[in-house]
Amino acid sequence: PLNRDNFTDDLRLAHLMADNADSITMSRFKSGDLRIDTKPDMTPVSDADVAVEEAIRSTLAKARPRDAVHGEEGDDTGWGPRRWVIDPIDGTKNFVRGVPVWATLIALMVHDEVVASVVSAPALGRRWWASKGDGAYAGKSLMKGELIHVSQVSTLHDASFSYSSVDGWMTSGRGQNFVNLLRESWRTRAYGDFWSYMLVAEGAVDLAAEPELALHDMAALDVIVREAGGRFTNLEGADGPKGPGAIATNRLLHESVVHALRPDARPEGDLDA
Ligand code: IPD
Ligand code: CA
Ligand code: CA
Ligand code: CA
Repeated sequence: PLNRDNFTDDLRLAHLMADNADSITMSRFKSGDLRIDTKPDMTPVSDADVAVEEAIRSTLAKARPRDAVHGEEGDDTGWGPRRWVIDPIDGTKNFVRGVPVWATLIALMVHDEVVASVVSAPALGRRWWASKGDGAYAGKSLMKGELIHVSQVSTLHDASFSYSSVDGWMTSGRGQNFVNLLRESWRTRAYGDFWSYMLVAEGAVDLAAEPELALHDMAALDVIVREAGGRFTNLEGADGPKGPGAIATNRLLHESVVHALRPDARPEGDLDA
C-alpha cells in the first residue's frame, strides 16, 4: 500500500516504486507465465514490461502529478523541468529466457541532469541507488544500503572491461576500436545491460561501454556511477546520458577509453574497412 505520507523525498518514492515493480517482475519471472510480443525493431517485449511501466506511471500520477514521465513502453506525458525516466525491465531478452540479469530502472531528471535513481535487480538480490551529492549505495533496501565506490585501476592493461553485445559495435563504425579495447584490457566479460555499469559503480569492473543506448537505458545508471566517484559520458566524452552510446569508468581510465574508441584512433585495413 502506498501511503502519500511516506513520500518524503524523491528517492524514497523511487524505492517504493521499485518495491512494487519487484513484486510484479519476480512473480512473473518465477512462473514464466509471459505473453511475449515482437516490437517493430524485432526486439521482444513482454506483458510484464508493460505492467511494470503502468504501475510506475500510476504511482507517479498520484504522487507527483506535475512531473513529466518518459518510459520505454509508453507515450511521454507532461512537460516541465522534472521528468521521471523509466525502463521497466532492462534486459528483457534475459528476463524472457530465465536469465536473472535484468532490472527496473527509475530515474529523476531535473532539466538535463539526473538527480536521483534506483536500479533494482531482484533476481540478483541486488539494488543500487544514488541521489545527487549524497553518494551511491547498494543493498537490499533504502535502510540497508552500503556506500559503494569505483576502483583505483589506472591503466587499461590492468582493467576489467564489460560490455553487452558485439553486433552493435560491429555496425557502429567503431568495430576495430572495440576489438582493440578488448585486446588491451586485462579482462573482458559481457555482463551486459545495466549490470556492466553497476559493476563499475561498485568497483568490481573498471570500465563499461556501449555504442548505442536510449535515454531510458542510461539515465538511472548515470547518477549512480557519478556518485560512486566514476564518470558517465557519451562516446565523445561529454558528461551525462546524452548519447550516442555510453562510457562509464572509474574516472582514472576515462580519457584513455574515449581516445581508444575514437574512430580516427584505429589502424588502417581493419575490421570496419
Ligand atoms: C536493451 C539493453 C541493452 C542494449 C539494447 C537495449 P531492453 O534494453 O539496454 O543493453 O544493448 O540496445 O535495447 O530492451 O532490454 O530494455
Ligand atoms: Ca526493449
Ligand atoms: Ca533497456
Ligand atoms: Ca526495457
